[in-house]
Amino acid sequence: MESFYDVINVVNVCKRGKEMGIRSKFIIIIAVLSLLATLAIGYTSYMLSRQNAIAEAKSKGDIIYNFIEASGKFFGKYQYPLIMEQYDDADIFIPELMSKFVVSRMEFEIFQETLEGYKFKQATLDPLWADDKADKGETELIQYFDANPKAIDKQGVMTKGAEQYFYTAKPIRINQVFCLTCHGDPADAPADQRDIYGVENGYNWAMNSTVGTSIVYISISQALADAKQAAMKIFLVGVGCLLVTIICIWVFLDRVVVGPIINLSGASKNISLGKDLDDSLHTESKDEIGALANAIDRMRISIVKLLKRS
Ligand code: HEC
Repeated sequence: MESFYDVINVVNVCKRGKEMGIRSKFIIIIAVLSLLATLAIGYTSYMLSRQNAIAEAKSKGDIIYNFIEASGKFFGKYQYPLIMEQYDDADIFIPELMSKFVVSRMEFEIFQETLEGYKFKQATLDPLWADDKADKGETELIQYFDANPKAIDKQGVMTKGAEQYFYTAKPIRINQVFCLTCHGDPADAPADQRDIYGVENGYNWAMNSTVGTSIVYISISQALADAKQAAMKIFLVGVGCLLVTIICIWVFLDRVVVGPIINLSGASKNISLGKDLDDSLHTESKDEIGALANAIDRMRISIVKLLKRS
């Protein structure tokens, strides 16, 4: 049934097309083409702004990631050995003093207090600290790093709830036996660690496995919303210009083409009926319509002469 109505519609549109004046046809073509061009410009503007937003997020992510890593390396190289010199009891474990992961996590919590829109997580499949539990996207990243042992990082766009983020992720691999003193058999871990974190999660990790990913998120939702708004503005300004152009073309065609042609066609009809034979159609206009008017006028003069002769 639907296709039957579609056919009727097409026929109607064609009929209307034939009945349409030059001006309407011309304006419809201009309007459709300009609208497509405006859409293309709006879309391109959005894509360019999106690219910019992502490039900016990437460079911010690189800086933040670099700083976290530098702070972790400083801790591991200079602070950790000095701290461990002070304690000779293997069961003493003070997280804020002795774990690089605690230091990075807590440092970033303080960083976030003054600067919103950034997240840092040491996402892990089976963590000691429950908040480090990897979500769906992070689990996929860990699986990716596990399947690609040569991969050293991965960047991309991830959606979490209503927010969109650009992320920079690096794998956390167990490549030192040292890690397994605290993440292997719970019985080997410092007693203090077992007291604080329990013995349920965060243990029995395997040597050379990818256990997690440390990941920095930079929110790009605001930048994308701004890009959309800018593209919308460009589109609306384009549509505005299009409307003004259409009105100008309409008036121009009316004055210069359609009006004179209607006049000429009326005059020709009158001449064919023998009416108004003394009204000159001569014009000084040198354009095509002027030429047509002068030709019809010469025809009128010839008809007048012929009629006088007979
Ligand atoms: C002295 C014990 C100890 C050692 C050694 C240790 N860790 Fe941990 N690790 C911890 C504790 C405790 C946490 C919990 C941190 C927190 O509260 O955020 C942790 C957290 C982590 C996390 C974040 C996920 C989680 O469990 O909360 C990862 C990943 C991790 N460690 C990897 C390693 C790696 C890799 C090594 C070896 C280079 C290592 N750890 C060595 C005690 C240790």
